This record gives sequence, structure tokens and C-alpha cells, in this order.
Amino acid sequence: MKRIYSQSVSVGLQRDLENEFQAPAAKIEIQIRLLRKEDVADLLDPAADPSINPRIIVHQQSMVDANIPTCYVAVTADNKPCYMQWLIGYDDNQEIEKCFKGVFPALKKTALLEGAYIHPAYRSFRIMPMAMSLIAEKAAEMNARWVNTFVDITNIPFLRGCQRAGFNPYLLRKDRWLLFHQTVTFHPISLTMNKLVNELTDSDRHKTGGKHQVRVSNHKPKSMST
Ligand SMILES: CC(C)(COP(=O)(O)OP(=O)(O)OC[C@H]1O[C@@H](n2cnc3c(N)ncnc32)[C@H](O)[C@@H]1OP(=O)(O)O)[C@@H](O)C(=O)NCCC(=O)NCCS
Repeated sequence: MKRIYSQSVSVGLQRDLENEFQAPAAKIEIQIRLLRKEDVADLLDPAADPSINPRIIVHQQSMVDANIPTCYVAVTADNKPCYMQWLIGYDDNQEIEKCFKGVFPALKKTALLEGAYIHPAYRSFRIMPMAMSLIAEKAAEMNARWVNTFVDITNIPFLRGCQRAGFNPYLLRKDRWLLFHQTVTFHPISLTMNKLVNELTDSDRHKTGGKHQVRVSNHKPKSMST
């Protein structure tokens, strides 16, 4: 859909893999493996829950179709895929730029987590914190020290899951659309904003601290449509 005017604020969250962190256990048994072709229809079944926003399914499917490396899934004890998320290494910065057109800062030694999605039947089992935490740790194999992820500030379930997965807010991204042109700016997160995010997610107790790698910039991506 073309955009005439809109604004949104996303929070960038980061985990420093040099800080020890124990992945929290989900309420059901899960394991992490790579996405297989046959998982996609199960995971992205639009009929699974009529309340699901179809745009979310379209977004997930477009990431699958774009062959973005590397999509992991969490599977249940009977190998049913219940969660998906991409871990993108910094070697794939060009791929990131091509697909997401400037909405993620290109940082060295930093991997990106994107496209988290839980099948509706598996919501509320605290799968996301465990799965995201374990997937983030795979970034060490990509030689990354930090792992970033971005989420709209209104997405409280995701923010909660991130903080339970050892991620802390470190950056704000403001997206502004005006007459089909998108402007993206990055801003360091203020103490007040950090406190607000922690209050929204009730997660002061999940904080892990750590050194953040921040590069703040004003970025004007090429005009694009969604
Ligand atoms: C984001 C997502 C993965 C989280 O799934 P989930 O972990 O099963 O989410 P839950 O419904 O259990 O919510 C997580 C927590 O947030 C809480 N929560 C949910 N909505 C809330 C709200 N509006 N305000 C406050 N807390 C809220 C839940 O109570 C839960 O807390 P608890 O574990 O202490 O009970 C899932 O909602 C999803 O796939 N969404 C669609 C895709 C998406 O938004 N992806 C993220 C952007 S990339």
C-alpha cells in the first residue's frame, strides 16, 4: 500500500553475547532447527486464526520467498513448527539493505533478528523468549558479538519477549512517510525512554546490562512502497 503520510517509532534492542545469559525455559518442550520447506504452510496458515492480521502472514511469506538467510524455527516435541525468526549475519548487510531499504543500521560484528512469528495455536507458552535467546546465540557462529532487533514501540508482547530473551533497548528508530518517500532516523535511547519501555514491559527484573554498539545516523532510504 502506498503511503501518503504516516509516522512510527520502533525500539532497537540489543544483546551482547559476551554477557552470560541463561535462555529462559518455555512452558512446553521446544527445539531449534532450520526452517524446512514443508514447515511454511503449517506456520503461515492464514486460516489458523481469523484474528491474525493478514499483512503479517504476507510479510512472513515475502521473507521466505526472498530466501533471506537464515530462518530458524522452534519445533515442539513432535516436530511441529511453532515459531519462526530470521537471524541475518553482518556478512549479509547487502541483502539486508536490498530487502529492508535502510531501516536497519549496518553494524559490524552485529547480527540482526527479524520476522519473529508464533503460530496462533502456540501463543502464551513463552516460546518466543526461549527460542529467540537460543537463535541469538547462533550469531556467535557468524562471528558476531551483538545481536539487534527492532520492533514497533506498541508491540508489547514482542518487547516483553525480547527482554526475557536478554535484549535491552538501546536505540530508537523513527520512520516517517510523506508522499511515498520514507525517512528513517536513528536516535540514542534516553534514560527516560528506556525507563518507559521497561515500565511498559514490566521488565526491570529481566535487565542484563552490557556494552552496546551504537551508530546513530540520519538515513534517507530511496523511496519505496509497501
Ligand atoms: C510477538 C509474538 C511472537 C509474541 O508471542 P507470545 O510470546 O506468545 O505472546 P503472548 O501473547 O504470550 O504475550 C507475551 C507477554 O506479553 C503480555 N501482553 C500481551 N499483550 C499485552 C499488552 N497489550 N499489554 C501488556 N502486556 C501484554 C502477555 O500477557 C504476555 O505476558 P506473560 O508471559 O507475562 O503472560 C506473537 O504475538 C506474534 O507472532 N505476533 C505477530 C508477529 C509479530 O508481531 N512479530 C514481531 C515483529 S517482528
